[in-house]
Amino acid sequence: MRILVTGGCGFIGANFLNLYVPKLRDVQFLNLDALTYAGNPLSLQSISDAENYEFRRVNLADSDATAQVVSEFQPTHIVHFAAETHVDRSIKYPRDFLNANIIGTFNLLEAARQTWGENYEGKVFHHVSTDEVFGELGETGLFSETTPYAPNSPYSASKASSDHMVRAWQHTYGLPIKITNCSNNYGPYQFPEKLIPLMSLNALAGKPLPVYGTGANIRDWLFVGDHCEAIFKVMTEGKVGETYNVGGNSERTNLQVVHALCESVADITNQSVDQVKSQITFVPDRPGHDFRYAIDASKIQKDLDWKPSQTFEKGLHQTVKWYHENTDWVESVKSGDYQTWIDSHYGQPGVSTK
Ligand code: TYD
Repeated sequence: MRILVTGGCGFIGANFLNLYVPKLRDVQFLNLDALTYAGNPLSLQSISDAENYEFRRVNLADSDATAQVVSEFQPTHIVHFAAETHVDRSIKYPRDFLNANIIGTFNLLEAARQTWGENYEGKVFHHVSTDEVFGELGETGLFSETTPYAPNSPYSASKASSDHMVRAWQHTYGLPIKITNCSNNYGPYQFPEKLIPLMSLNALAGKPLPVYGTGANIRDWLFVGDHCEAIFKVMTEGKVGETYNVGGNSERTNLQVVHALCESVADITNQSVDQVKSQITFVPDRPGHDFRYAIDASKIQKDLDWKPSQTFEKGLHQTVKWYHENTDWVESVKSGDYQTWIDSHYGQPGVSTK
């Protein structure tokens, strides 16, 4: 196997490489990453010298560079993580999402097709996607693989578009594709613009915890290590042309997540839970905020015998501890760009966002 990973310096890609590069010594890995704001080579420090690992800085929006590097590496498997993923950023900068998620995926599909020619024996193009392509749910119901697409944000619309292209490249050109649509991930190395790392760092630093609206929105939380194992399983054992939903079986309201996180922070820092909870502030809601996402993961469980192994409260506690202990990594991502986003989205320090 020769596995080409895109977006390996991002959150899920880095967790995937950190897990499988040391585990599969006879497999060669190539990581292509544009190193935009959310990509951090420090996330891969433990494998950067491994003999079965190489890194190339490539932006998939550059079709020539993408085609060249794919052809040089001659992958048997492509795992496509690279994407812009933050809904709030997509509302402010939608064009970045179209370029990265739609044009980037198109260029990668074309590069795979050119490199593989018609010889698809033993090849897999695995596209990593999200449950947000299905839109939002009310109080009840679950997303299944056959739920019609109804994306609501520029982010989810761009991911839905990429899913459609991946599917069409199989239907039209016979490219051996597989797609996974997963629920909200959390764990080490997630950029602190997303709910759990942002709240963890703010709670640890004694800063406000900005809950959108009333905190009643619901997400299904999946530990990133479980997600990586699901991807590997689908890539190696799943059926070509199929889509698999991957979920954590852990639906929580945002306020429940923040309360659980406050308990972990209190435990780690020897404060009272009430003291940490007093940092919670309710801020104006996100425009078009999807109410609820929830996954029916029975297909992957039945067909491939996969289910999440981590419980939410344990995984969350481990994650908060990780952000508490990995201060070098945390400092490295708090670049000027991070601060600019935080100031523009939540207001300048000392200025109320209510
Ligand atoms: P997020 O981590 O951005 O993931 P997504 O929007 O893709 O689900 O947000 C998760 C939930 O947390 C979502 O309902 C929005 C909410 N949220 C807050 O309440 N406050 C915040 O500061 C952030 C970033 C998110």
